[in-house]
Amino acid sequence: MLPLSVAAALVAASVAEASFSKNLAYHSPSRRHPSLAVPLSYISKRQTGNLFTPEELEFTHGVASGDPYDNSVIIWTRLAPTSENVAADLVPEGVVPIYEDPEAAQPSTKAACVEFKIATDQALTDVVDSGRAYTSSDVDYTVKFEAGNLQSFTTYYYRFNVCGSSKTSPVGRTKTIPTKGTRVPRNVRLAVYSCSNYPEGYFNAYGAVVAKDSADYILHLGDYIYEYQASDVRTALPDRETYSLYDYRKRIATYRTDEDLAASHAKFPWIPVWDDHEVADNAWKNGTGNSDGETFRKRKQAAVRAYFEWMPIRQVEMDDSLRIWRSFSIGDLFDLFMLDTRQYDRDLTVLNGFAGIGGNSQEVEKQVDWVNRTIMGFKQESWFYAGLKESTARWRVVGNQVIFSRMAVGVLIDKPFNRDQWDGYIANRDRVFQTIIDNKINNTVMLSGDSHAAWVSDLVWYEKQDYDKDTGAGAWGVELAGSAVSSSRPIPLPKLLLKPITKWLLASNPQLQWQDLYERGYFELSIGYDDITAKFYGMDAKTRSTDEKLISQFLIKSGENKLARNPTVGGGIAYAGALKNGKIDY
Ligand SMILES: *[C@@H]1O[C@H](CO)[C@@H](O)[C@H](O)[C@H]1NC(C)=O
Ligand SMILES: *[C@@H]1O[C@H](CO)[C@@H](O)[C@H](O)[C@H]1NC(C)=O
Ligand SMILES: *[C@@H]1O[C@H](CO)[C@@H](O)[C@H](O)[C@H]1NC(C)=O
Repeated sequence: MLPLSVAAALVAASVAEASFSKNLAYHSPSRRHPSLAVPLSYISKRQTGNLFTPEELEFTHGVASGDPYDNSVIIWTRLAPTSENVAADLVPEGVVPIYEDPEAAQPSTKAACVEFKIATDQALTDVVDSGRAYTSSDVDYTVKFEAGNLQSFTTYYYRFNVCGSSKTSPVGRTKTIPTKGTRVPRNVRLAVYSCSNYPEGYFNAYGAVVAKDSADYILHLGDYIYEYQASDVRTALPDRETYSLYDYRKRIATYRTDEDLAASHAKFPWIPVWDDHEVADNAWKNGTGNSDGETFRKRKQAAVRAYFEWMPIRQVEMDDSLRIWRSFSIGDLFDLFMLDTRQYDRDLTVLNGFAGIGGNSQEVEKQVDWVNRTIMGFKQESWFYAGLKESTARWRVVGNQVIFSRMAVGVLIDKPFNRDQWDGYIANRDRVFQTIIDNKINNTVMLSGDSHAAWVSDLVWYEKQDYDKDTGAGAWGVELAGSAVSSSRPIPLPKLLLKPITKWLLASNPQLQWQDLYERGYFELSIGYDDITAKFYGMDAKTRSTDEKLISQFLIKSGENKLARNPTVGGGIAYAGALKNGKIDY
């Protein structure tokens, strides 16, 4: 038998170790990547028994939840000492510092102890799971738990408190997903966002869905933050372009002070993926528009680390620090694939220049037809195709960053104009189509963002299949691409001058059924077994408001693999942009 004191010490040590390790913020993206991580053993040695008092601490950025499964969900908060709300990371000897920043606050050798409760009721009396962990400056005082013991497709409420204290966070609400393969009792509602630029506007699009309480889950297709320096309706801190870990943490923290974003995180579980601006503009696997080499490598490490700290998401493969692509099975209703077509393993993109002119776009034009070109990387491609083939749910919903459909400007040049989209990765797109066709896969719906404009298309593989733009015959599915929460219009012209451009785009692209360059906003999906309804909302983002208008609406009927014609797409009327065979009323 061990002497009692030794046994007690072992128990104390294991409790302390377990407590650090229960905070998932210490695990991703770096736990199994020693060169990125601050070892937990070092942190616990430094901090155990050296805790901040409750009076020194605040819940600084509300609560959030995300990546729901049928029996668990990730819940998030940040518990920081008020005197050092912006923390650096403290790097022990022998670990390569991933950034150095003279402006960052001094790291602390103290830890904060935090507990959570999750319950079926808002008063948190019917508690179904609870837990306790530490956080520290090493992870920017962020806290991520996996709350478990939950029932499928059920609403829960959760709250954090400082250990042994009545100091609490706000109460958050979240929801699990239906169990894979089971019948879902009602339509599932998604709100789909992309391109939320804090300096360029208010996050009214988030606020509108909070006010309506109209979604089960929130999807964000990337450009959740922007890295560059900007000051328009407001300023994103730090007031410079982001490079260091401190910069990316501070940038996300600034966005999270937005009340509409904070309210959305507190009310709904999020399932986000990143696009380019979570690292930097026009990112690909080996650089961005304005960074490459060692600068890029460090910048991306910092960006990825800050993202995992601050976002309520899972790292589904601990040995792959860059993997964010993952899937969710929502009963037997739909399988949701969240892709990373940007940061994971993308081949060279257009870093500057446009439509084959200027910058490196000539080089990209040379490569566009290479069969070995990939936007996803081959590892992710294999996973995606296997997932599509194995999926037995009614629908396959694919959350993706950039526009999937071929988009050209006709008359002058019938050539795709944006090689930063799937149009620059033709072989990869062909492989997606080939998988769909070879396996007779029905009911595929692509969701896209990135472009700051709205594009609704039938999915068409022009090289392989004739397509009738009026009936939709020959299509393999549907693409719904949303505008931006607040990022500026892609073409900064007044509405009346955008109208002819939109009509020209419709005329140049047979599969494109509705397009709009003017409105800021988002779209909502109501997914049922017989059909999916997609509603696009438009709004102003220059003043804070929840005013919005329905600008177009589409139906996708199960088994049709195209936008429903009733009798024409969208019922023949839209309130923004231009609609094929339809009326525009604005
Ligand atoms: C990636 O970047 C490094 C450093 O800038 C360069 O040496 C290397 O050739 C690049 N690789 C590719 C595939 O472009
Ligand atoms: C991809 O294919 C092109 C054209 O065949 C070839 O020049 C290039 O070296 C290939 N790249 C790789 C990484 O194999
Ligand atoms: C897709 O629908 C077609 C037509 O109804 C059917 O023949 C085919 O088997 C379906 N594919 C799958 C994978 O179920």
